[in-house]
Amino acid sequence: MIDKKKRPIRSFVLRGGRLTVAQQHALDELWPHFGIEQRESVLDPEDYFDRPADTIVEIGFGNGESTWRMAQQEPDKNFIGIEVHEPGVGHLLMALDANGVENVRIACEDAVTFLQHRIAAGSLAGIRIYFPDPWPKKRHHKRRIIQPGFVMLLARNLGKGGILHLATDWQPYADHMLEVLQACPDFVNLSPAGDYCERPEWRPYTKYEQRGERLGHQVRDLLYQKLS
Ligand SMILES: C[S@@+](CC[C@H](N)C(=O)[O-])C[C@H]1O[C@@H](n2cnc3c(N)ncnc32)[C@H](O)[C@@H]1O
Repeated sequence: MIDKKKRPIRSFVLRGGRLTVAQQHALDELWPHFGIEQRESVLDPEDYFDRPADTIVEIGFGNGESTWRMAQQEPDKNFIGIEVHEPGVGHLLMALDANGVENVRIACEDAVTFLQHRIAAGSLAGIRIYFPDPWPKKRHHKRRIIQPGFVMLLARNLGKGGILHLATDWQPYADHMLEVLQACPDFVNLSPAGDYCERPEWRPYTKYEQRGERLGHQVRDLLYQKLS
């Protein structure tokens, strides 16, 4: 019998969303090229990208619209997108193929374990987490991905000067992010006011951002730099 108390707290619930025929086809045909298989060992980016370049990780990319657009806008960088929801992975695979974007690779697994086991310390130039699940109910706050321990893991994986970029449309989560980040000595806040930053024009609109705006929510961007 599973001991529920020993199950790790996850930031996601796997929804049973069905794959469309096109998404399944993309997974069959394109995953071998763009996918990063699950392993325990530290990943060597040169096994996946045909050139060394600054590597940016995007966590919880949803349908991947932001991922392929940023990769297209920043062709000098390598992107690793991480998402547990398979239909979203299928959606991104189709977009990469349709738009001829080559500088993205995808991991379909829990970002927490991926960052713990597969990313070498100090190896990332940036980590972007846009509109992570806000888990609004108090009893679910422990599921929020932004927590002190996770932020320490992000700091471990970023190189000196690396940028952590978060965005959310849920003010209580923005407050929580600010509190956790301000308490982490490895990061400096890039906001001149010491709290939130202007929305960078280059950040693509995501599905969840548009939903938040329809609901009248204010969007908050947080930008932090890794000190050393
Ligand atoms: C609210 S959605 C936002 C999606 C997208 N970034 C956007 O703005 O439209 C959060 C996404 O994060 C994914 N997610 C949550 N926790 C994750 C984890 N630990 N590892 C990988 N993906 C995760 C969920 O599956 C979901 O697709």
